[in-house]
Amino acid sequence: MTVSVSMINMKGGVGKTTLTFNLAWYSAWQADLKVLAVDLDPQANLSQYFMGAERYLEYLSSERATVMDIFEQFSSPKTENGAPTPIDPANVIHHLHRWSDGSLLDLIPSRLELSWTLKNPTEKAHLLPKFLASVSKNYDLILIDCAPTESILTTAAYRSSRYVVVPVKPEFLATIGFPLLARSLQEFKLMNQDQQLDISSVIFNDMRRSNTPPEQIKSRSDVISLANTYDWPVLSDVAYHSDSYPAGSRSGKPIFLTEYARDYVKSEFGEVANKFLLSVGVL
Ligand SMILES: Nc1ncnc2c1ncn2[C@@H]1O[C@H](COP(=O)(O)OP(=O)(O)OP(=O)(O)O)[C@@H](O)[C@H]1O
Ligand SMILES: [Mg+2]
Repeated sequence: MTVSVSMINMKGGVGKTTLTFNLAWYSAWQADLKVLAVDLDPQANLSQYFMGAERYLEYLSSERATVMDIFEQFSSPKTENGAPTPIDPANVIHHLHRWSDGSLLDLIPSRLELSWTLKNPTEKAHLLPKFLASVSKNYDLILIDCAPTESILTTAAYRSSRYVVVPVKPEFLATIGFPLLARSLQEFKLMNQDQQLDISSVIFNDMRRSNTPPEQIKSRSDVISLANTYDWPVLSDVAYHSDSYPAGSRSGKPIFLTEYARDYVKSEFGEVANKFLLSVGVL
């Protein structure tokens, strides 16, 4: 069975993309899973983390499609009589890595023009889950990296997912997006009563492991209290602050493959990743 998980927080810069990138790598490389990562943010950071800036630009200038084409397949018909052609999975799914044991890592890239979809969103939210359902047999885990704003893309992510993970940074106003997310999930569930969708975990990211500033300790406890009121589980393991995360993303490497990351940083992330996989029922 394929499990789909969306990384969502209405607050920006909390580590949604960093965690998606590292969890996707870990799930394929260390947990031997077949993984599809979906970049659902017009900023296309995840695509650039995986492909590197240069290869990403080459991709955009090629004939290959992006997640935008999944949403826009009916607005730009390619056939002579003007009828839309369905998206060819081979044209939109980019193979990043294949391992000899059968595990793999694929990506559906994004592009800035995905923001056009937001200007004319009517009747488009179902196109992503429809597409993913058609390819899900090839994967154990689908990870969707979302933009920090609520839009039709959020609805498309909900519709495509069994679980939502909420990455959170222990900082001032960390919980600002929680009521918004709780409300948007509740509304979605009311409208889609046949779909199971749960928050599998809130994951703390970018916290100082030692000399933790009082603001981070206070903010952490605020997050835990509010998460408890919504019955959202909080992962006990934390993805601590490490300069190896930004350095790794610049060089296209997950933290456990970088040469400079300390062993304890790698194993801390391994714990987070294992608990994450357990929480979504893949391990
Ligand atoms: N654990 C960490 N340690 C150090 N730096 C981190 C960590 N996690 C994320 N960062 C850095 O914080 C910045 C924001 O991270 P990221 O882009 O993953 O957030 P995001 O939630 O996806 O942002 P957005 O809302 O814009 O999509 C990046 O520069 C990233 O390298
Ligand atoms: Mg991001």
